[in-house]
Amino acid sequence: MAAIRLQGLRKRFAPDALPALDDVSLSVEAGEVFGIVGRSGAGKSTLIRCVNLLERPDAGTVQVLGQDVLALDDAALRQARRGMGMVFQHFNLHARRTVAENVAFPLEIAGVPRAGRAARVAELLPLVGLEAKRDAYPAQLSGGQKQRVGIARALASKPRILLCDEATSALDPETTAEILALIRDLRARLDLTVLLITHEMGVVKSVCDRVAVMEAGRVIEEGRVFDVFTRPAQPTTRRFVAEVIGHSVPEGTVARLPAARDGEARRLVQVLFAGPNSTRAVVSEASRDFGVDMNIVSGRVDEIAGEPFGVMALAAYGAPDRLEASFAWMRSLGLTVTEIEG
Ligand SMILES: Nc1ncnc2c1ncn2[C@@H]1O[C@H](COP(=O)(O)OP(=O)(O)OP(=O)(O)O)[C@@H](O)[C@H]1O
Ligand SMILES: [Mg+2]
Repeated sequence: MAAIRLQGLRKRFAPDALPALDDVSLSVEAGEVFGIVGRSGAGKSTLIRCVNLLERPDAGTVQVLGQDVLALDDAALRQARRGMGMVFQHFNLHARRTVAENVAFPLEIAGVPRAGRAARVAELLPLVGLEAKRDAYPAQLSGGQKQRVGIARALASKPRILLCDEATSALDPETTAEILALIRDLRARLDLTVLLITHEMGVVKSVCDRVAVMEAGRVIEEGRVFDVFTRPAQPTTRRFVAEVIGHSVPEGTVARLPAARDGEARRLVQVLFAGPNSTRAVVSEASRDFGVDMNIVSGRVDEIAGEPFGVMALAAYGAPDRLEASFAWMRSLGLTVTEIEG
């Protein structure tokens, strides 16, 4: 069963504004970490806020754990919201409350008696590695520790779903990696479904099972992270993927490459190898069958969720139509061929 099912969501903040959400549909399966990636203003926060109805969509349906949340009355909605914890970019902690008091806060709001709150806090702090900080104030914590408090607080009411809006965007890369590892670990231990928003494809690569790419209020691409990384269909997705995968061609190297001969062209491309044809001798086959020359500029092997793929930068020389035909042939094998700028 889908843990979250959104259908035809639309949201416009002003009559003359562009839509923040423009017919968005997606399903998040129970137990998965689902990422939404997009540039600033793409509509990511609006989308995640429509799941717990911090924002109400103008149109569409929102189902959470099989429940139509738009149809709930206030009391039932409060109850449903307890099933969805939310983690924010800027932590949103109470400066005058200790770690333990911050974590207990949602339980206090929900009317849980003091002893029950204390027992739950005692369970939560070890889960996020903060036992030693229970009486510290937020100002005494690092960014990573603050976010651990944010995560413990989000889990206070034992939600089935965790919503993370740029949970690591205020953190350095090392702390980001720790928090992402914690989220994955908690997902497994607590059997959570995680919907995670980010503008960084690196976050998607390290923590998500599936991803949707948003642009201008629409989902433009969606799929398993491995597939989206190795076979991005949309130009925007290719640019996002390139930020992480890169093509590893130093500028000086490009300058030193031989120029094209008269009447021929030089094309610098990145080839991404994944799937059944990834072990074929593509370069020599292309050279032989299309009469082009291919110079391997760089290459490496990377992996996503344990699945390997190769990335290679090629300088290809030959008649323009032959080059084009050789790239088309590579694409027909399921390899991704993209032009490298410069
Ligand atoms: N409360 C609001 N009132 C008016 N406009 C809003 C409101 N919230 C969002 N918007 C607009 O809706 C669009 C989508 O915003 P949203 O915050 O969902 O984007 P985002 O993808 O989360 O961006 P960021 O990466 O910067 O957080 C933007 O044009 C934004 O200005
Ligand atoms: Mg946002």
